Amino acid sequence: MKVKFLPMDVEHEVKPGQSILDLAQQNNLHIQSVCKGIPSCAECRVYLKEGETNVIPPSDQELDLIGTAYFVDQRRLSCQLKCFGDVTVDLTEQLEKQENHRDKIIDNNQRFKENSHARLGNILDEQE
Ligand code: FES
Repeated sequence: MKVKFLPMDVEHEVKPGQSILDLAQQNNLHIQSVCKGIPSCAECRVYLKEGETNVIPPSDQELDLIGTAYFVDQRRLSCQLKCFGDVTVDLTEQLEKQENHRDKIIDNNQRFKENSHARLGNILDEQE
């Protein structure tokens, strides 16, 4: 059985009982995970695009985290998402999160450099 990951449009063979998060990480596809699948962070949500009938329904523990929105938008916790047939999941939201995180790091580094330069500049100015 296969899992197709969008928007990359790549497919990987999934083992019985293996979570989508585990499969993605095994294949270097980014899905954010803070709790490593406890589940408690809800950061690992993915859209289940196809194969709704090929996945194990969300547990009460998962529903406590994702709420009933799942029934509307088909977003599941990838650490809890296990399938018994082919499925397609969309990682677009995960890629956007990764991009936003990267932008924040770049902004913070830029701010740090500017602040450091400003402080160093003040010290140099005082020495003159
Ligand atoms: S990795 Fe934290 S809830 Fe899935």
